[in-house]
Amino acid sequence: MSESSDGHYRRCVAPYYARLGSRLGYAMLLSRTRHFGWYEPGESPWRFTLAMRRMEVIAARKLALPPGSRVLDAGCGVGDVARTVARVTGAEVTGVDGIASDIAIARRRSADAPGGGGRTRFLSADYHELPFPDASFDGLYTMESFVHSADPKRALAEFHRVLRPRGRLGMLEYSSTPEGRLTPAAYTVLRRVCELSAMPAMLMLTHGRLEQLLDDAGFAVESVQDATPNVLPMLRAFSVLGSVPYGLARAVGHGDALVNAMSGVEMYRHQETWRYHIYVATKR
Ligand SMILES: C[S@@+](CC[C@H](N)C(=O)[O-])C[C@H]1O[C@@H](n2cnc3c(N)ncnc32)[C@H](O)[C@@H]1O
Repeated sequence: MSESSDGHYRRCVAPYYARLGSRLGYAMLLSRTRHFGWYEPGESPWRFTLAMRRMEVIAARKLALPPGSRVLDAGCGVGDVARTVARVTGAEVTGVDGIASDIAIARRRSADAPGGGGRTRFLSADYHELPFPDASFDGLYTMESFVHSADPKRALAEFHRVLRPRGRLGMLEYSSTPEGRLTPAAYTVLRRVCELSAMPAMLMLTHGRLEQLLDDAGFAVESVQDATPNVLPMLRAFSVLGSVPYGLARAVGHGDALVNAMSGVEMYRHQETWRYHIYVATKR
């Protein structure tokens, strides 16, 4: 692994998820799953679990792989996405994540789960240096984990290596609006959220940039769907929940301490700074 990506994970990503605020917030609101849900127009923003499962089913269908396919979840967290993908597609899903305690939870949940649990396995690993031989997988996806990469080219090269020829890649990730198209105030907020949430790739991946990087890495981009309107209701709910604690923390000069509340409030207020996309590509 390059020193920069390994060092960044240990210094920034792992501590971000280990923070009490992060752990409590994700545990209380999302049962430790950590991704946006998909909402249809007019739906209640508060039905987080329903919306998250729907997003996972969409991710699974986008991969369009037959039963028995070998699939890698790069940045799997507690494994809920992997279980849904296994259940919906009939694939064998391997999840990797850098947080050992999440891997333990993922294994426990799979052991207890009906359906897709038996076709999942989980291990601690960094997706910049995957412990698998070349061409080990028919499919690979990231669910809001690639934005944490300090070395996106290296990660894409690794994804390319472990996929078989014509293997399919799905990425559900945020991109950012270039600095020149934002007010200084909006760009300052975007940069601060990316810094505090350990998401350097989100700043690097301005709209359209991931498509170029995928092409350079040897992938043919098949589709890019802008799902921003479908995830926005969940962010609105986070913004409502975060506004009082963040407002109070800010009033005493500690707004940065409540990173998740801050992200909810500021990213909802500055919707012009980001988009949420679902990318599908094939290894050339
Ligand atoms: C927003 S969470 C998403 C977790 C999971 N995909 C989900 O949807 O619930 C991002 C995850 O990516 C993991 N991650 C970030 N960088 C990673 C890396 N270089 N290698 C492995 N996992 C990584 C984090 O540890 C975290 O669990």
